[in-house]
Amino acid sequence: MSCAVFGFAAQAGPSLALARALGVPRLSVKARHFPDRESLIQVEPSPRTALLYCSLDHPNDKLVEILLAASALRDNGAAKVILIAPYLAYMRQDSAFRAGEAVSQRVIGKLLAEHFDGLLTIDPHLHRTRSLAAVMPGIEAVAISAAPLLVAEIDKRRDPLLVGPDGEARQWVERIADRVELEFVLGRKRRGGDRHVEIEIPDAERANGRSVVIVDDLISSGGTLLAVAHQLRSAGAQEIKALATHCLATEAELDQLREAGISSVRATDSVPGPVGSLPIADLLAQEIRQRRWYPS
Ligand code: R5P
Repeated sequence: MSCAVFGFAAQAGPSLALARALGVPRLSVKARHFPDRESLIQVEPSPRTALLYCSLDHPNDKLVEILLAASALRDNGAAKVILIAPYLAYMRQDSAFRAGEAVSQRVIGKLLAEHFDGLLTIDPHLHRTRSLAAVMPGIEAVAISAAPLLVAEIDKRRDPLLVGPDGEARQWVERIADRVELEFVLGRKRRGGDRHVEIEIPDAERANGRSVVIVDDLISSGGTLLAVAHQLRSAGAQEIKALATHCLATEAELDQLREAGISSVRATDSVPGPVGSLPIADLLAQEIRQRRWYPS
């Protein structure tokens, strides 16, 4: 055995799916929490390449635990530790937008680069920083696209109009629009607070009487989708659906989206949740094989 996928109990399902897709064993990372919430991490003996699976939604505790796990893996046989983080947190804060703010993307990128030999993620939120390699200097940091999975969810026969909520969404919506040969429009977003956004869709009238699919990388609170749906309904859209790579929204937030007239929300299973069902294991496995991170 030259490689194994290591997973925490909370992500046993997706780490096992990846191990099966690769045809390698899935071994466990045990996390015990002391009363004061410190974590004690324990790993099984590792082969030369350890693929540590940990999607980084709700990231603060997980960040500490993956650093401890990486160290334990190296102490127990791993010569190479690759982080498989389908959702990569802290990528949105790529600049100090107000005086005194930390540039989280730079801090977390550097931290991960110091502890891992490589990293694989899906559709990280890179806007002003063009490549993941720039965020994680010196390691093989790879971002793949969920477009093949999202495309399969689009019913071309309905000739839907694709909508990206803002300029940043161009990179995701354009890739999908090209594949399915459908037209898209982009909104303009102004964020007033964590849950409050204003969206203007300059070409909103094109949604009149049509089926519309909103495409984004991330649904967090759902505020962005609510604002877009409001615009589209006012413009006369007949049916509104939403597709995203990652969905962090709670059941209550998803209810609000339904009430706002979004009839279906689909996302990949990068983050466990009620709508995250499009399986990423094969996409990840395909990329890992191409990277030759371990001898087959
Ligand atoms: C931000 O620019 C992203 O692409 C998403 O549009 C955003 O993070 C969604 O957040 P929320 O669901 O909280 O509006």
